[in-house]
Amino acid sequence: MNNFQYYNPVRIIFGEGQIEKLANLVPTDARVLITYGGGSAQRTGTLDEVKTALAASGSREVFEFGGIEANPEFTTLLKAADMVNEHNIDFLLAVGGGSVIDGSKFVALVSSLTEQDGTVSRDKAWDALTSYCRDIDSAVDLGAVLTIPATGSEMNSGGVINFSERQAKLPFGNPLAFPKFSILDPTKTMTLPERQVMNGVADAFVHVMEQYLTYPVNAKVQDAFAESLLKILIEEGAAVKADPENLETRKNIMWTATMALNGLIGTGVPQDWTTHMIGHELTSLHAIDHARTLTIVLPSVMRELKDSKKDKLLQYARNVWHIKADDNGTELNDDAIIEAAIKQTENFFRELGLPVSLEDAELDATAIDPIIKQLEVHGMVKLGEHGKNDLAVSRRILERAI
Ligand code: NZQ
Ligand code: ZN
Repeated sequence: MNNFQYYNPVRIIFGEGQIEKLANLVPTDARVLITYGGGSAQRTGTLDEVKTALAASGSREVFEFGGIEANPEFTTLLKAADMVNEHNIDFLLAVGGGSVIDGSKFVALVSSLTEQDGTVSRDKAWDALTSYCRDIDSAVDLGAVLTIPATGSEMNSGGVINFSERQAKLPFGNPLAFPKFSILDPTKTMTLPERQVMNGVADAFVHVMEQYLTYPVNAKVQDAFAESLLKILIEEGAAVKADPENLETRKNIMWTATMALNGLIGTGVPQDWTTHMIGHELTSLHAIDHARTLTIVLPSVMRELKDSKKDKLLQYARNVWHIKADDNGTELNDDAIIEAAIKQTENFFRELGLPVSLEDAELDATAIDPIIKQLEVHGMVKLGEHGKNDLAVSRRILERAI
């Protein structure tokens, strides 16, 4: 296991009817900007519930900023950042999923990057984003009310911002972006369309794989925890498809998705993230849902990198899919075991209704060159746990995914 420091300050308030706790969680004299997406927060009544909770105590001034897109847009977020300055906001409350929470983290980090006239500088914010926002040393406090289990953004300090004009979708991360708290009320996920429920299960699954399917460092806790999260997602993914009304299933999916990317299973171990970096370009160029880009790319990452990932692929086959060398009497060699585990993974994604090839997303080989070009533009040229996945490797991965 590698040396590590683990720090995660986010207070999680989990369960039905927890939104009312906002009355004690948000400072009573705060000037609050509630941020939300394209309409689901209003339609589902969650926004009203949040406003009622905030009004129940103290003398808060509450403002609203809606319209944060799925795959949150840089230019939209700068408008929210201007609103932070215009109204002297000192607390951001994100109500939504990864897009709203990521977008609000970005707003919290860049709202101090102003021009002479007090508006947030587009250039300074872009420079910040292209350097991962790591040099920012002040941020507005932030809390979250999660409405879709998927990204883990509710309990981490990272995010991803889209800038369509520049055909860019870039990650950022800064400890100042940890939410002070996140409310995870599983009943708020019951209004999700099946598509989004399945996206969430798949995104969480691939988060675990990015931190697990690398090479062994004898990290028994992280490995066992990661394998458990994968098995829960396999089980609960099928369960929620069969019975979407089952709240217990929703609870387990919600907490699993949070634990998949709150830093715990990724601490002290090598991490890959090749699948995500290629996936971001697919979303940016073709507006494919984030999770669906991952289910297209991951099986090909597993096949293309099976030599360098061999030990963990065999461990994954054995411990997650219970594939044994002597399955029903016939001796399987390592390659056969690995291919069987990759096929199981593809079948899992298919059963959730997710694509596993570029063709499933109505793309063909002509889509590959533009993706490789964008990877190069964004400096994504040494990806993976060994930093060796160059553009040629990314090209081969995509060619396998046709
Ligand atoms: O915009 P509204 O109207 O709210 O609709 C949203 C959106 O269209 C809808 N939705 C959310 N909660 C709902 C609901 N509809 C009905 N009922 C509810 N309770 O679902 C749609 C998708 O929402 P979004 O927030 O985009 O989904 P998700 O949580 O999957 O977030 C995806 C974004 O997170 C980034 C992705 O790149 C993408 O931009 N990620 C963030 C990460 C992080 N911070 O750690 C890591 C991930 O790998 C990922 O990159
Ligand atoms: Zn993801």
